[in-house]
Amino acid sequence: MSAPLDRALVPPALQDAGMLEALATELGTPLFVYDEDDLRRRCRAYVGSFGAGNAAYAGKAFLCVAMARLVAEEGLLLDVATGGELHVALHAGFPPERIVFHGNNKSNAELTAALDVDVGRIVADSFDELDRLEHLATERSARLSVLVRVTPGVEAHTHEFIETGTLDSKFGFTTRDGVALEAARRVVESPVLRFRGLHCHIGSMIERLDAYARAVAIVVDLCAAIEASTGTRVEELNMGGGLAARYLATDPLMSLEEYESALRTTVKECVANAGIGEVPRLMVEPGRSISAPAAITLFRVGTVKTIPHGRTYVAVDGGMSDNPRPVLYGAGYEAYLPDRIDEPRPLVCSIAGKHCEQGDLVVTNARLPDGVRVGDLLAMPVTGAYGYAMASNYNKVPRPAVVFVRDGQARVVVRRETADDLVRLDQV
Ligand code: LLP
Repeated sequence: MSAPLDRALVPPALQDAGMLEALATELGTPLFVYDEDDLRRRCRAYVGSFGAGNAAYAGKAFLCVAMARLVAEEGLLLDVATGGELHVALHAGFPPERIVFHGNNKSNAELTAALDVDVGRIVADSFDELDRLEHLATERSARLSVLVRVTPGVEAHTHEFIETGTLDSKFGFTTRDGVALEAARRVVESPVLRFRGLHCHIGSMIERLDAYARAVAIVVDLCAAIEASTGTRVEELNMGGGLAARYLATDPLMSLEEYESALRTTVKECVANAGIGEVPRLMVEPGRSISAPAAITLFRVGTVKTIPHGRTYVAVDGGMSDNPRPVLYGAGYEAYLPDRIDEPRPLVCSIAGKHCEQGDLVVTNARLPDGVRVGDLLAMPVTGAYGYAMASNYNKVPRPAVVFVRDGQARVVVRRETADDLVRLDQV
């Protein structure tokens, strides 16, 4: 129980405690530190498994200009889910034709921004959106490439907040009662829309590949129904993201090869059973499995408090404002002291943030070496996805800086917010 941290949770370039201490001293804490080569390796692994042009990085997991450029350089497509993510991508110079535009409630302004730059694919999510798309495309006599997002009614066995493929999901068109078929028919028959295929994202943090297999079976049946009723082939089958990351030493390590092979085999089998002529191009949209394991967050310990007959709190200088996942989903993380990474961790404690809420615990039952002291550098691994991306200014805490480390060199890719940033929107 008091085992040292499993070093495999920390990417190779971030295992040098001296370098981390120097970074924390120079740039302050909390600090998000990414191993740039690790990010690139994970991008390349997806391109290697699924083929160039068939993997889109889901920007919602972690996006900034440097990340968008890295994704572009590694040959992935980019999934953006809002006008804001689109803006960051374009600002970074990401090629618009490699952008996949998502969202369950895209505004006219967002759609217009996407059409203005000719994004590669729009993932249609509702009949209202199809109305808007047709209207906008007619106005500019453009033909838009559209994927129809479908919800197959499959449980992904993950936290309900991040389960998206169930029948009553807010996303996409249900496969029930011919709704998704009707949406596809509308796109096929539209003179201004070009039907590219189907999109299906059943959820995030998925550890069971059978959930994907069940979704694929339903979606391939839908492909057959679309072909039979419209005579149009489903060219692309985008099965979304969702592969889980290993946050705790006890979590399973999901294999990209097994995931790819499970998806591909099921698609082939289902296509053969459904009697469809050609296997659609299989595409995926990973976020977490690329960016989560590539980063750690550094904090400075400010207070150590042992309650008589109660817990020991180790309070750090961040909290739910740089990582709301523990509070939102009860997500678990490991904690460790980088300069004592290989020491046993007998101390059971809670790592508390600095926010005005008892619930602001970033790790509820953490393990640390004995003798943790004020001023120690404390790290949480696997914080590269949905941490900075969901950071806030709660309690007017400035958001941390983000650093990419490569070949022993660190570059700040997002600067720390200052006190002035906290009032920059105020109009008085
Ligand atoms: N594609 C679509 C359409 C999505 O909605 C998502 C995630 C992804 C791809 C990427 O999924 P990933 O590979 O990252 O699992 N904030 C939550 C996760 C929300 C996921 C939202 N959609 C968390 O921190 O666990």
